[in-house]
Amino acid sequence: MTRRPDVIVAPDARAASAPAAERLAGRVGAVSKGAFRLCLSGGSTPIPLYAMLAARHDIDWRRVLFFWGDERCVPPTDRSSNYGTARRTLLRPAAVPAEHVFRIRAESGPEKAAAAYHDMLAALPRGDGRRLFDLVLLGLGEDGHTASLFPGREPDWSEGRLAVATHGDERQGRRVTLTPEALGDTDELWVLAFGAGKADTVAVAFEAGREPVLPIERVVRRAGRVVWFLDDGSSGSLRRAKGRSTL
Ligand code: 6PG
Repeated sequence: MTRRPDVIVAPDARAASAPAAERLAGRVGAVSKGAFRLCLSGGSTPIPLYAMLAARHDIDWRRVLFFWGDERCVPPTDRSSNYGTARRTLLRPAAVPAEHVFRIRAESGPEKAAAAYHDMLAALPRGDGRRLFDLVLLGLGEDGHTASLFPGREPDWSEGRLAVATHGDERQGRRVTLTPEALGDTDELWVLAFGAGKADTVAVAFEAGREPVLPIERVVRRAGRVVWFLDDGSSGSLRRAKGRSTL
């Protein structure tokens, strides 16, 4: 990693999600003009955070635009839809206006959906050196994937491409993912990873002074401020590598 990231470690997923919710409320509250562009992650990791956010009454959701880092090629009603999960746990309970939700329509086919999402993101107003996103949330798979960027299976894309069609293994199926270029084009990047099964992957992501081996490392290098939210399990190998009981 090129910059020193912030690392927040708590005993478990819930305890680690609480400071993330608090901080996100503060970031949205600090928006003075325009809308806060928030890119959500999929998987199960962010669910406690989404539920905490939905329960808060101090966030003005009319100031927030929602995007996704990746999507599976399933209808939004499918339990594995990343948009579907966010809709159930955050968007609907928080009554987020539909026109603030920019989901990846991956059920229309990965290539078509990726092209449409690229075009939509590329058309977002920039100016004043503004980055694509204000905040990107990412998770981490035990196999080292982030969004739907799978180590060793990344499709080729040309510079400037913001979203592409991709696939994981047979179980993970076809997907649409933002590229490291798009995911890293953010003022803040928060990586949430919980559970001992992710400890070794987290430790690899923190290895310094070599070429990136995990997709998350390429995202981290481009992003502004980087914050890791870990629990005792996922930070275990990192703590051992540093020879410390706390980080
Ligand atoms: C997805 C993702 C993915 C996820 C990790 C972690 O849709 O699968 O966006 O990158 O963040 O796989 O998944 P869990 O949170 O379920 O462990």
